[in-house]
Amino acid sequence: MTRTYLLIGGNSGIGLATARLLQSRGNSILAASRTAGPLTQSGIPVQPFDAASPAPLDLPPVLDGLAYFPGSITLKPFHRLTREDFFHDLQVNLMGAVFAIQSALPSLTDTPLAATLLNSDGKREASAKRHPLQQIGNPDDLAALVAFLLSDAARFITGQILRPDGGLSSIRTF
Ligand SMILES: NC(=O)c1ccc[n+]([C@@H]2O[C@H](COP(=O)([O-])OP(=O)(O)OC[C@H]3O[C@@H](n4cnc5c(N)ncnc54)[C@H](OP(=O)(O)O)[C@@H]3O)[C@@H](O)[C@H]2O)c1
Repeated sequence: MTRTYLLIGGNSGIGLATARLLQSRGNSILAASRTAGPLTQSGIPVQPFDAASPAPLDLPPVLDGLAYFPGSITLKPFHRLTREDFFHDLQVNLMGAVFAIQSALPSLTDTPLAATLLNSDGKREASAKRHPLQQIGNPDDLAALVAFLLSDAARFITGQILRPDGGLSSIRTF
């Protein structure tokens, strides 16, 4: 059955992998983000949208699901964070996602957002070794989880926070 999904920030990283997976399964996808990115080449319409100052979107009468991907990794020490940085991150990471029914909180995943943390073989190897599964996240793995949460197969799951993190949050390695 064709379903219609809205992906906020579906043009990069985990969102893009999710958009491609859902589309390959015959679903209808709408996206909203600040830039169009590669989605338009896949025939997916992208509406301009900034989660830092949200405005209404042009939506169909029925949406079967929504996924929210905008986020930031701000690694500055707290005392170097400006008031503008703080409120921008709060708006995009928290307020924008405040109506999430369930969340997937990944560990370090190989996307443009994490590029500066993974821009050398040494960094990639060290990051992989911190994880019990000895690997960093892959956008396709995360997309599979998001697509599952949006599907009928997850109809008895609600209010959950899932941690696709290679075991980082729950297994201690010595
Ligand atoms: N990658 C990781 O290691 C990692 C780890 C933990 C959590 N996460 C979380 O996973 C989610 C997806 O991250 P990702 O790694 O796939 O990042 P990404 O490749 O940077 O993709 C983020 C997406 O969100 C959109 N976006 C960013 N800011 C936006 C804004 N203000 N308004 C509207 N759209 C916005 C971007 O498009 P535009 O720039 O065109 O707007 C892009 O489509 C984020 O919430 C991130 O915090 C990622």
